[in-house]
Amino acid sequence: MKLFSFVFTLLISFFLLIRTQGFASAEALKLPFQGGQVLAPALYVFGDSLVDSGNNNYLQTLAKVNYTPYGVDFRNGPTGRYNNGKTAVDFIASWLGLPYVPPYLGLSEKQKRKTKTGINYASGAAGILQESGTGDNLSLEEQVNYFNKTVKIDLPKIFKTHQKISKYLSKSIFVISIGSNDYINNYLQPALYNSSKIYNPQRYSALLVSNLKKHLTSLYKLGARKFVVFELGPVGCTPAIVSRVTPKPNTPCVENANSVVKIFNFGVTKMTQELTSILKGSVFIYADVFKKSYQENLHPTRYGFSGGNTPCCAVGVSTLCLPNQTPCANRNAHLYWDAFHPVQRVNYEIANGCFKGSTTCFPINILQLAYI
Ligand SMILES: *[C@@H]1O[C@H](CO)[C@@H](O)[C@H](O)[C@H]1NC(C)=O
Ligand SMILES: *[C@@H]1O[C@H](CO)[C@@H](O)[C@H](O)[C@H]1NC(C)=O
Ligand SMILES: *[C@@H]1O[C@H](CO)[C@@H](O)[C@H](O)[C@H]1NC(C)=O
Repeated sequence: MKLFSFVFTLLISFFLLIRTQGFASAEALKLPFQGGQVLAPALYVFGDSLVDSGNNNYLQTLAKVNYTPYGVDFRNGPTGRYNNGKTAVDFIASWLGLPYVPPYLGLSEKQKRKTKTGINYASGAAGILQESGTGDNLSLEEQVNYFNKTVKIDLPKIFKTHQKISKYLSKSIFVISIGSNDYINNYLQPALYNSSKIYNPQRYSALLVSNLKKHLTSLYKLGARKFVVFELGPVGCTPAIVSRVTPKPNTPCVENANSVVKIFNFGVTKMTQELTSILKGSVFIYADVFKKSYQENLHPTRYGFSGGNTPCCAVGVSTLCLPNQTPCANRNAHLYWDAFHPVQRVNYEIANGCFKGSTTCFPINILQLAYI
């Protein structure tokens, strides 16, 4: 595996060297953007509440956040994003020179046949496994099915030939951020689900990873080539999980919850490397969001989060913010917006690290991915 990663990195580096000669030095690649440059034709998004940009507004579900104080720092107010401002995907979209990625369910049939800068299929409360979803939700399978419709029905209205669609899709970026609910709603809820009795953590992780792999392969078959797959954060540190366990942990986080999630993350890392080698012309990068976030949860003040892991808003039993309550004054000082979701600042730092940095996304960052 090590040898493989090394050879892969070498290949990518070589490729990048060739591609970037003449228009950008390696140094320039590290620079922030002046804006205006369009680095990819489209951004397609799949996942859960961490990246939902409003799909759940159109579903019968309690997992809906189109009310204040959500969006208090967002230009358009509450939109169905699960934090005070932007998601990591919003930052990535704007750095790619693209508009915010609209939620699929919010598009009229006419808009669907015109949208060529990407669509967001992510849905709060959705999981990799259908049964992990709560309420009306778009499971990953349904999200992929909607994308299938986009490719087969809508994109042919925009592009004249199949070759043009293939070329467009091969240059587009696909972000996938899902799996937290397969733990939070499912595996870590033995009173509601059998999964922890049926599967040990390794087997459950293997089940999730093989499902995720199947769906990523479907996206590839439909034309996707450039993938960014997010690992899970330390869900055992989220205020909701910490407050759920009795007795309270002595540490800031519920470590056995974190350790089962880490098994999944390791599996995703290996699986994405494997897919890059078996799916011709594909590049999968994975975003390591666990390590840094875990350190921030252990030592919030060291990272400038004086509010620590106390949620910024007043949360109800649903773990979401209660409507119309005034949130904390300094959103940037908190790690969490509600009992599950990070504040915009955390999303910015993850997006920034993955887009331009060298410590969040592997084996290359999104900027490099865009230039391939
Ligand atoms: C979530 O959606 C899936 C379909 O995508 C459905 O099978 C599942 O029952 C839903 N969850 C709940 C609790 O309704
Ligand atoms: C749990 O497992 C038992 C026995 O296998 C089964 O009867 C029951 O329906 C399962 N419950 C859930 C929530 O899946
Ligand atoms: C897309 O949809 C078509 C027709 O509904 C189906 O035959 C095909 O298997 C789907 N492709 C993928 C990759 O899911």
